[in-house]
Amino acid sequence: MEIFTTIADTQSYLKKLTQQGKSVGFVPTMGALHRGHISLLQQANLENDIVACSIFVNPIQFNKQEDLLKYPRTLNEDIAKLKEVACDVLFAPSVDEMYPEPALERFDFGHLDKVMEGKHRPGHFNGVAIVVKKLFEIVNPNRAYFGLKDFQQLKIIQTMVSTLKLNVQIVPCPTLRENDGLAMSSRNIRLSKHERSVAPAIYRVLNGIKEKAGRISPKNAEEWGISQLNKFDGMNVEYLSIVGADDLLPISEWDEKKSVVVCTAVNLGAVRLIDNLILNHHIEE
Ligand code: PAJ
Repeated sequence: MEIFTTIADTQSYLKKLTQQGKSVGFVPTMGALHRGHISLLQQANLENDIVACSIFVNPIQFNKQEDLLKYPRTLNEDIAKLKEVACDVLFAPSVDEMYPEPALERFDFGHLDKVMEGKHRPGHFNGVAIVVKKLFEIVNPNRAYFGLKDFQQLKIIQTMVSTLKLNVQIVPCPTLRENDGLAMSSRNIRLSKHERSVAPAIYRVLNGIKEKAGRISPKNAEEWGISQLNKFDGMNVEYLSIVGADDLLPISEWDEKKSVVVCTAVNLGAVRLIDNLILNHHIEE
């Protein structure tokens, strides 16, 4: 695996390969790699000649300095995992390399970044869009892989790619979970033993909502989910929203023709976890 820390080295190495007609699959990450990340790299490996990964804890997408400082950094372990999964190129730049000047670009995603994560983490998606656009310019991938775990982020990236007419195919990938249902996340290692034991309730409650879909109103299903989760010691729901999967707008009634998703953010002690579940499959049954 080639490891680069500069934009120039990454660009010139990958340019040579694309000129030889090789396709590039790209997985942008913030490191602390777990099996969720690895599954994206495996998918990229199946569909491309070359697999590139980036590890960059992007400061401008953190709205709380404290969260940025607490973000796990495990570069040596990450490199070992990337070698195992046959990643060809790792781009791991410094903050100065990525942002020699302050990043001032402003994106307009309309409603998409005003709700849920966007509402609770002001500026977060603008920071994500800036870094992903920049990474795409550096890597120039044919395909880029994003997890459905960050459902709203995926929608934002898809919108950015279509609005700016970027020449990259976005490939959504399923959420990988622990055996007890907890969605894999770099933040899970910060959970205490007690917090880790109650965390699987998030996925159980999302599935409970899926069972109730079509039987009680979306509003009642949201209220039920919030009350179930808030019963757990140390758990505090920031939002739990049932929205259209394309527009992220709240729905007032179930509609069999419309793709619907329930998204939630839960504070568990000092750790903020997000998860989501697509609901329609049940409605279509
Ligand atoms: P990060 O949280 O490291 O996630 C990198 C990619 O892994 C994202 O596409 C995310 O959705 C995916 N991922 C995370 N957990 C997953 C899981 N359990 N199953 C499947 N995929 C999972 O998302 C970011 O980094 C950043 O915002 C980034 C896009 C790199 C921009 O800085």
